[in-house]
Amino acid sequence: MGDKKRFTSLRKLDHLRICAEKEVESGDTGFGDIRFVHNALPECDMGTIDLTSRFLNHTFSSPLFISAMTGGHPGTKEVNSRLARAAERFGMGMGVGSQRAALENPSLADTFSVVRDEAPHAFLAANLGAVQLRDHGIEWAERAVEMIQADAIVIHLNFLQEAIQPEGDHNALGCLTAIGELCREFKKPVIIKETGCGISAATARQCWGAGVSAIDIGGWGGTSWAAVESIRAEESRNIQDRRLQTLGADFMGWGIPTVVSLAEVIATGGPVIASGGVRSGLDIAKGLALGADLCGMALPLLKPALEDDEALTRTIERIHQELIATMFLTGSVKIADLRKTRMFIVGNTRQMIEKENPARIKREL
Ligand SMILES: Cc1cc2nc3c(=O)[nH]c(=O)nc-3n(C[C@H](O)[C@H](O)[C@H](O)COP(=O)(O)O)c2cc1C
Repeated sequence: MGDKKRFTSLRKLDHLRICAEKEVESGDTGFGDIRFVHNALPECDMGTIDLTSRFLNHTFSSPLFISAMTGGHPGTKEVNSRLARAAERFGMGMGVGSQRAALENPSLADTFSVVRDEAPHAFLAANLGAVQLRDHGIEWAERAVEMIQADAIVIHLNFLQEAIQPEGDHNALGCLTAIGELCREFKKPVIIKETGCGISAATARQCWGAGVSAIDIGGWGGTSWAAVESIRAEESRNIQDRRLQTLGADFMGWGIPTVVSLAEVIATGGPVIASGGVRSGLDIAKGLALGADLCGMALPLLKPALEDDEALTRTIERIHQELIATMFLTGSVKIADLRKTRMFIVGNTRQMIEKENPARIKREL
């Protein structure tokens, strides 16, 4: 295997280890600035609350989506298989991590294809970076989808990470055109996804204009790639790389908070996945109430998935219990009812949303 390819694969293990062992979360999603109005007389039976959700013509038993994380090194296969088993068992959707490593080196394909083996009925999303799409075209997108028999492809945007990664790609020219071409020619839905810096209303309009089927906002306030890359730089033996540590640390505060990004993108259209710092069933309820169709989680599912199936099951059950309790206390029997509940939006989040989207705030009051 060439040096560059081996590097892509090894980076996958670095990311898993750093995310599992170090402090990689930074920022404020804005979920803390949202408060549901309690319904003291909910007139519903908590035992009959229905989490069924719809997204891109698929029906899910839960609105929790397992966000793209891994694959691409033999050491990542077991984590992917545990996540996929959970997706199958709970009727949830799942994304795999960037498939670049296996597209460069097909002997790694089984670290991704294992998800379809373990989750024959789940909605699965393939994953490719916008830069790889631009450089390799629709052929790579087709191979990525085929590798896991995916139901959709996610094209991820991660230019903050690229900017501070020693081996990062610093040229973003031509990505929107490549996305437009893919949307025109591809048979499967195309989902655009940020990876922790959020998507603005203006970017969302460009994406809808290019023909994308859905947007995953990947907002600020959860896993920070500035933090992850800063730690990688600190650990590097190369002096040049180590200089990037401060650059990473400087940009840990960069991004659009998840709630603000969600409000902006929802105002431009849908369907939308809310992700980035979603940490509980209560956060999921807030995301859905603001208009998301599904809510994605990465880091909170990675840690139990590195342990075993039982730990992952316990985590997902707890998240569902929190979501069901929130729905009960707002008198919401179905996910659609959550969207009609009243909420208070306060603080910085209110200020940021109000400026761009006064209609949203007016509806809440
Ligand atoms: C270990 C790890 C690897 C990731 N790799 C990818 C990736 O390859 N492609 C991608 O689109 N997002 C990737 N992400 C980003 C997540 O899908 C998600 O957008 C981000 O972590 C924010 O969600 P969180 O705060 O719940 O972790 C990764 C996240 C983690 C924790």
